[in-house]
Amino acid sequence: MAFSELFLDELVRRNDIVDVVSQYVHLTKKSGNNLFGLCPFHSEKTPSFSVNIERQIYHCFGCGAGGGVINFIREIENLTYVDAVHFLAKRAGLTVPDDTVSQEVRNRRARLLELNREAARFFYEALKSPGGEAAREYLARRSITPDFATRFGIGFAPDSWSALSDAMIKSGYSTRDLLDAGLIKKSAKTRGGFYDTFRNRLMFPVIDVRGNVVGFSGRLLGDGEPKYLNSSDTPVFKKSAHLFGLNLAKKTKLGTLLLVEGNIDVVKLHQAGFDGAVASLGTALAEEQVQLLSRYTKNVIIAYDGDAAGAKAAERALSLMEKSDMRVHVLRLKGAKDPDEFIEKFGRDAFANLLDNVENHIEYRITTLLGKHALETDEGRLGFLKEATQMLSNIPNAVEREIYAKRVAERAGVSSDAVLSEVKKAYNARRRANERRRQARERNVRAAVQPKSRDIRYKNEVSALAEEGVIRLLVLDCELFGVLEEYDFSESEFTSDYLRRIYDMIKLRYEAHAEITPSLIANALDGAEAAHFTQFMSKPESLSRADMAMRDYIKKIRAAKVVTQAAEDPEAALLRIVRDKSGCGGYENGT
Ligand code: UTP
Ligand code: MN
Repeated sequence: MAFSELFLDELVRRNDIVDVVSQYVHLTKKSGNNLFGLCPFHSEKTPSFSVNIERQIYHCFGCGAGGGVINFIREIENLTYVDAVHFLAKRAGLTVPDDTVSQEVRNRRARLLELNREAARFFYEALKSPGGEAAREYLARRSITPDFATRFGIGFAPDSWSALSDAMIKSGYSTRDLLDAGLIKKSAKTRGGFYDTFRNRLMFPVIDVRGNVVGFSGRLLGDGEPKYLNSSDTPVFKKSAHLFGLNLAKKTKLGTLLLVEGNIDVVKLHQAGFDGAVASLGTALAEEQVQLLSRYTKNVIIAYDGDAAGAKAAERALSLMEKSDMRVHVLRLKGAKDPDEFIEKFGRDAFANLLDNVENHIEYRITTLLGKHALETDEGRLGFLKEATQMLSNIPNAVEREIYAKRVAERAGVSSDAVLSEVKKAYNARRRANERRRQARERNVRAAVQPKSRDIRYKNEVSALAEEGVIRLLVLDCELFGVLEEYDFSESEFTSDYLRRIYDMIKLRYEAHAEITPSLIANALDGAEAAHFTQFMSKPESLSRADMAMRDYIKKIRAAKVVTQAAEDPEAALLRIVRDKSGCGGYENGT
């Protein structure tokens, strides 16, 4: 999302860099306009981190880090650009103008987040109160210290049908608020009645990376079903888009996030010093969660439960993460069900040892296949080789394919050349299939862009799509001709004669100060031409950042031109190169 320059100026003005940085770095020594401190981005003993008061920028002479106040917050809080802007806006008491989410929706979200926070506080107090005795005992039994319980904001939902809702209604929240936040449910038995969703449970608030309490996960204090109850999806919570513990784990200094299954695993790992642990909330890892992870690290270690279900979940998570550019390793638990149990049984050092011996995704898969097939038999070796070659053919990197093909061959006791040639065969087959799919997709996209009428067929669909955008914007706001001028955009850049004619028409009207409306233009076109015009005019276009959009279209048109030139037939390309060369002198002296 783009923010207006006006707003960003205000944001930067209201967040003095010295104030902001001082919250993280002790700035002392002053020389001229510069304050110095120890760099928070690398470890050092003498201060080489400087903040320039006048220019409102920071720079580290040691590690080269530097930027403005927004960059600083992005780096130190590990936030995206958008989140950093929101962070600073909140700090300065500014409202972020937002053209995608309406004010009403935003107010609703803010209210639900506020309610969640207050509910979390209620659960927290309940844990400390006399009624929280059993929950405190439970925590002690799971050897979670009060300190770490507090750090995670753990609380207790009293064994009552209305303790939470009574308290929240007293604080001014409505039944509607509570329902929307998923904190109460409609009773099927008593008409018009409601009851608290979470009762007699240990409460784990789910906190997003910006510190909002977005939902809850509640565990029974004993056995029973369901063991965990999670908030249903609400306007502020989507289970598949959050990770429990990421609010704390994002600050880890280890550079690696540890993905586990259970909430308790997360708390216990942090307690044992492995502060990069996060958990997906009782669901298979989702695409959105992978994206969230990848914002904080490229290194992930999966430490799922040691049982068959855990292995299956790990395999799914692996395939999902392989599609991103992350480095994924898998930790194998032995002798314990989950990380929590492992640490209880064998201690933190034993776990650290497991972490030192994690397998990368390929090694993990080979080991898994080895466990699946009996290599003493020919049948087993064949089965192993079949699955292993398929798996290896998925590896995009040729060197890696070769290394692991050798390893597989060794384990199966066959020649590595044989394995490698099988892998190559499978790899090529897969590549051809992918290429066919890609071409079919591209054909579909291109076909969708083409006008129905053959007479105005586009030669370059990519460029034409952007040309349509230029026209759409001009019709909506003819002042955007200014942007075209700024970029020296000429009508000769249109690849479609049809679109160029429409452009000329608009330009003429613009210069004559005549009215420009879609209907006026459409009326001046033939049937099929008008039909396609109205079709592309009805595509959405945001006018709030129209100048940006216009620039993007121009860039797309120019990029498409470069691509087309690169793809021209080899002979013509050669001819052009030869001509170019003679034009600038070639190898000989002058021409
Ligand atoms: P586990 O059953 O492995 O729980 O479920 P756990 O975390 O090891 O809990 P303890 O040690 O028995 O207390 C892993 C995760 O799956 C989700 C929860 O998020 C849990 O932490 N889950 C589990 C549910 O959402 N619902 C359930 O009924 C069970
Ligand atoms: Mn457990």
